Amino acid sequence: MLSLLLVDSEIELVPQKIASHTAVRLNARRRKKEASRMLLDATLHHTAMRNLPQAKRRGRPDIIHFFLITALESVLNHKGMLRTYIHTRNDELITVDPSTRLPKNYPRFVGLMESLFIDEAVPLKGQPLLRLSKGYSFERCLEEIPHRRVAAFSQEGKKVGLRGYFRGSEEDILCLIGGFSKGDFNSDVRSRSDDIISIYDEPLTVWTVASEIIVNYENAIDG
Ligand SMILES: C[S@@+](CC[C@H](N)C(=O)[O-])C[C@H]1O[C@@H](n2cnc3c(N)ncnc32)[C@H](O)[C@@H]1O
Repeated sequence: MLSLLLVDSEIELVPQKIASHTAVRLNARRRKKEASRMLLDATLHHTAMRNLPQAKRRGRPDIIHFFLITALESVLNHKGMLRTYIHTRNDELITVDPSTRLPKNYPRFVGLMESLFIDEAVPLKGQPLLRLSKGYSFERCLEEIPHRRVAAFSQEGKKVGLRGYFRGSEEDILCLIGGFSKGDFNSDVRSRSDDIISIYDEPLTVWTVASEIIVNYENAIDG
């Protein structure tokens, strides 16, 4: 089994501190929503975000959208051999049922995630496909997710051929990818990882790294 955990992901509701900023209020009025019940989005709220800590990397739910579509629609997931998790910058853990079919349409994805952040489960009736649990530091996520080995992915890691790395690994492996577009992990990922792996000399997008991991793992276990 392969588990993917997107760490320090830049997805959150609009922080109270900027909820009354003009850019946020205009967007909220257009969407007929309360500002603090909307996802923070760097494209729409960048003027309001200027005074937030780490403003340049925050508000990127689009990264989580691309990542989840890549993971959930993969052959490995269809075979039942992939588990997908999101850890957020505010220490929430989002658990994703492998049978989840996410909307491809971005505004619909945003609406779904807003419901998840407010209700902590989607759908509310029956078995939730998406569940949000609060108070999950990166370290607590590691305790929750079954694994025998942890591989963190970073451009600064050791250059490794992924197929060879995964070959012969029947053990449950947990792969960590940063859920942000700029900077480094906020969490102490390095000290909790067995290996720190680079797959290319240049920075790659989160979903490219995810697809390389998934396809190489699948090829490796298929022999
Ligand atoms: C877009 S990168 C983060 C920003 C990156 N430090 C940069 O300067 O572009 C997001 C995540 O993708 C993974 N990643 C990106 N490029 C990689 C590479 N060449 N090798 C391994 N992982 C990589 C890492 O997990 C990283 O945290």
